[in-house]
Amino acid sequence: MLCRTSDELQRYVERSKEWTKKGKVADYIPALGKENPDDLSIAIHYPSGECVSAGDIKKKFTLQSISKVISLAFVLMDKGKDFVFDRVGMEPTGDPFNSIAKLETMAPAKPLNPMINAGALVVTHMINGDSTEERLQRLLSFVQDLTNDQSVTYNKEVAQSEYETADLNRSLIYFLKQHGIIDEDVEQLIDLYSKQCSIEMNCLNLARIGAVFAMDGADPQTGKQLIPSDVSRICKTFMVTCGMYNASGEFAIKIGIPAKSGVSGGIMGSVPGRFGIGIFGPSLDEKGNSIAGIRLLELLSKDYQLSMF
Ligand code: DON
Repeated sequence: MLCRTSDELQRYVERSKEWTKKGKVADYIPALGKENPDDLSIAIHYPSGECVSAGDIKKKFTLQSISKVISLAFVLMDKGKDFVFDRVGMEPTGDPFNSIAKLETMAPAKPLNPMINAGALVVTHMINGDSTEERLQRLLSFVQDLTNDQSVTYNKEVAQSEYETADLNRSLIYFLKQHGIIDEDVEQLIDLYSKQCSIEMNCLNLARIGAVFAMDGADPQTGKQLIPSDVSRICKTFMVTCGMYNASGEFAIKIGIPAKSGVSGGIMGSVPGRFGIGIFGPSLDEKGNSIAGIRLLELLSKDYQLSMF
């Protein structure tokens, strides 16, 4: 068992905290720029339901790109593997998360994977429902089941801020629309995607979702299959190959667990068969990953042999 007590985990937080000074909070979405760069918190959720945590774990943050794994699981359940992977690929890109470069060189122009923005926009486009509201509510209800917290919702201020500044994502949608991969109204999809990225929770909630993936999609407390095990396996594989963007290779070597980051500074980790991890540290490195969060995982992985490899 990793860190039996919160005091033990707190010492790891203290050792990693100085790294927050070396990074920068994301401000390309203005509402995200308000975060305190010194924050660092972590929760670990064991299959028994036991939780160990350190830092200000009540602090809420938005999922941003972490939501891409959840929406992927959701559409794989809605539409099936063949439908989804006809429209989005399975290969890492090595490019930044919002890059348009590979789309222009691929024929057909199918996004390389669901963890980069182009692929995630295609995934969000595939969420079933008659209206944006219904699609969002279906996704939120899935997240509420994963967290076992019916109060989880999205942050309206962050969603609006992203909606107003998402011109690069709009350009990705226009490109994909021109190539027949997406066929919905651009503003409608940006609205849904901005709300999806703004789903808000704390580290404890995030660690619980990590635990569901760690337990092959089963609810850690009830054993109920919230995600089919093959879908959970696909999601964890994407987390290993593309979850930390163009830092995924180094992360796999140094830490070696399925993980997904977001520009809010969240990291969801999933240690197969063992536990889920939720981290919040909004100071980011140059690739958009939580700088102190990665350091914290590196220390834990070394001391507790977390690497799968
Ligand atoms: O698409 C965007 O710009 C964001 N809402 C999500 C990006 C993100 O979190 C990238 N992560 N490192």
